[in-house]
Amino acid sequence: MEKDLKGFSTRALHSGWDHDPSTGSFGLPIYLTAGYKFGSAEEAASLFELKKEGFIYSRIGNPTVAAFEEVIADLESGSAAVATSSGQAAFNQLLSLICKKDDHVILGRKVYGGTLTLLSNIFSKFGVEVSVVDTDDPEEVARAVSPKTRCIITETVGNPSLNVAPLEELAVIARDNEALLIVDNTFMSPALCRPVEWGANVVVHSATKYLSGFGNIIGGVVVDGGNVDWGSMKKWPEFTEPEEAYHGVVFSEAFGTKALATKLRACALRDIGGCMSPFDAYLLWMSIGTLSLRMKKHSENALAVARFLEEREEVAWVSYPGLESHPHHERAKKYFREGYGGMIAFCLKGGIEAGRKFLNSLNLFSIIANIGDARSMAIHPASTTHSQLSSEELKKAGIEDGLVRLSIGLEDVEDIIDDLDRALSSI
Ligand SMILES: Cc1ncc(COP(=O)(O)O)c(C=O)c1O
Repeated sequence: MEKDLKGFSTRALHSGWDHDPSTGSFGLPIYLTAGYKFGSAEEAASLFELKKEGFIYSRIGNPTVAAFEEVIADLESGSAAVATSSGQAAFNQLLSLICKKDDHVILGRKVYGGTLTLLSNIFSKFGVEVSVVDTDDPEEVARAVSPKTRCIITETVGNPSLNVAPLEELAVIARDNEALLIVDNTFMSPALCRPVEWGANVVVHSATKYLSGFGNIIGGVVVDGGNVDWGSMKKWPEFTEPEEAYHGVVFSEAFGTKALATKLRACALRDIGGCMSPFDAYLLWMSIGTLSLRMKKHSENALAVARFLEEREEVAWVSYPGLESHPHHERAKKYFREGYGGMIAFCLKGGIEAGRKFLNSLNLFSIIANIGDARSMAIHPASTTHSQLSSEELKKAGIEDGLVRLSIGLEDVEDIIDDLDRALSSI
């Protein structure tokens, strides 16, 4: 009998995998295989023509990876998902699928530096036009739209500015212009926010972060929101007209709400090849079982730390969506459930020198170019994660010299605060 899976934590533990009927294995097996033995030449042909569902070659799909894809699609309220080798690969393959020469992309100014440079350094070379705008301001986004706009890209919570996107307003602008709203939900995870429920069409993750939760893999995923009515739009013939590379299949008709994910797998993952390894998918599938517990604790610890930092005289300002002082606190209260995440940005009054001294005085915190680990970590974005940006771009992204980004872990909050207290006192 099919299990009736309702609550988020129940689905996080039961979606994607139950047991192997041939052995009874309750643990998810790691299918270390490149290929899959076909029953006959006819079966092979129908798999290749997408007439039959199944596995062909592990670059395109793998049963262990499929377990991760199924659970994340379910948790994000999407229709299907495609796992990738990294968050960067997720964006690369998605944009390769939906953009061609002379197309236009609207990108949030405060997104992760790597997303910005992927578009401005790589896709611009192939003739994709990019407008970098403040996606916190729907009017600025609406002004940037052109008939060639394919998508609007934003982050639920920006890295590292911690601005909160006006998801519903952006979804309306995207829908009215036959464009897709793509939301990078890395900082929140579906335990705290489900952008599809607020109108996003596609959700992207760096699975490296909270989905993994332990900083032990690099991975990414694209979730199809399943909410695009391709047939009613004129701008997307690649979904509504026969695809020559697949014997004339019409993706919107053959795959319905899973058209985008299926085409991403069949036409971008197949050709570009940035697939996830089964071992990484196994670790991710296991970690997701505890996602909601972890996100609640990250959020509780981070709120206590943000309140502590707000009281310190060494600190010029603190940005955390859970603080009443945050400019997008009301938006965060509406979109997020069970907490405001584990990320905090704050600025030291002493600028770059104070920042260095502070980082060097930390003991429990590690200086790491990653976020979302169970262990607390700190970084100085201007000299590391965002160092590829010019000083003009840094300014526009709201990254000041004294800005420190904290990824608050799952340690005892008293120990986290003690460490910060000591490091601040050393300045
Ligand atoms: C918000 C966000 N999106 C995407 C990425 C890229 O992901 P990955 O490092 O897994 O390629 C990062 C990496 O830091 C990120 O912070």
